[in-house]
Amino acid sequence: MTHARALRALTASLLLAACGVGTSGMLDPAGPQAASLERLWWLFVAVCAAVYVVVAAALGAALLRRRGRPAADAPPDPAPPGDARSIVVVGIALGATVVTLFVLLGASLATGRLLAAPLAGPPLSVRVIGHQWWWELRYESDTPSESVTTANELHLPVGRPILLRLSSVDVIHSLWIPSLQGKRDLIPGHEQEVALVADRPGAFRGVCAEFCGAQHAKMALDVVVHPASEFDAWLAAARLPAAEPVDPAPTRGREVFLGARCPMCHAITGTVAFGRIGPDLTHLASRRSLAAGTLPNTRDHLAGWIVDPQGVKPGARMPANELAPDDLNALLAYLESLT
Ligand code: CUA
Repeated sequence: MTHARALRALTASLLLAACGVGTSGMLDPAGPQAASLERLWWLFVAVCAAVYVVVAAALGAALLRRRGRPAADAPPDPAPPGDARSIVVVGIALGATVVTLFVLLGASLATGRLLAAPLAGPPLSVRVIGHQWWWELRYESDTPSESVTTANELHLPVGRPILLRLSSVDVIHSLWIPSLQGKRDLIPGHEQEVALVADRPGAFRGVCAEFCGAQHAKMALDVVVHPASEFDAWLAAARLPAAEPVDPAPTRGREVFLGARCPMCHAITGTVAFGRIGPDLTHLASRRSLAAGTLPNTRDHLAGWIVDPQGVKPGARMPANELAPDDLNALLAYLESLT
């Protein structure tokens, strides 16, 4: 009983780990690229299941046949080489195997062609830069003041071709947004492009799919797909500099931020902080999560992350920050005002 329950739990956890749940799994595609990968996946499942059933049935039939006969009638074992029946069976098995493998190869190549097909229309281009262990995202514009740099939350419009330009500043990472596209590596010194279209709005999860160090598992990407007008509004808001603090607490918090080590690594547009080692914080409070999908973006988690990042994500480049309680509260008030 205990074993059966453990097996069920293991099976369920493996299935959930592989496929994701709800709106973020490769079996819940939200675009044509992911849909073609889903079709390929089902084809492989169907063919492999059919092969399994045929092999198991042949094995079972052979065993039953042998059991049902008196020992004296049993055929010599093994069948002599060159026996006509053995040659036929081997020929059929070989032929079926070759055909099966070529069908799967053909389907894989066809899917690869679909994934690499040129996009219809001019794409929205977003640079995705891998860091240990977070994602930098840049919406570049010919007008520098209209470029947007953000982190760990990729916003996309529905229905418009998207071109993600992937690179890395340190080691090889791999971007995988199962509901939208297959995996693609982020390689230092070599930009790669991946095209996709999202055909429905929603929130999806992306992950790093290439082992990249101690916190590889805590390198997730929130992906938010908006209707076109909502996306334009998001982009317009993201282009704005950080909100100017009005109340005393956030005003004091900004002084704490600028007086501490924070600006050495973080940027906040509209202030003198322009560090590029860590995530841009200009609109931090608008984001869903902290530390690349590691924590929900709440005041308590933000406080814990600032004071003891190594307790949350050991090895991350963010150092511990000892702040007086009043300073910490003011800093939190400031960061929470960055909508
Ligand atoms: Cu980045 Cu794994």
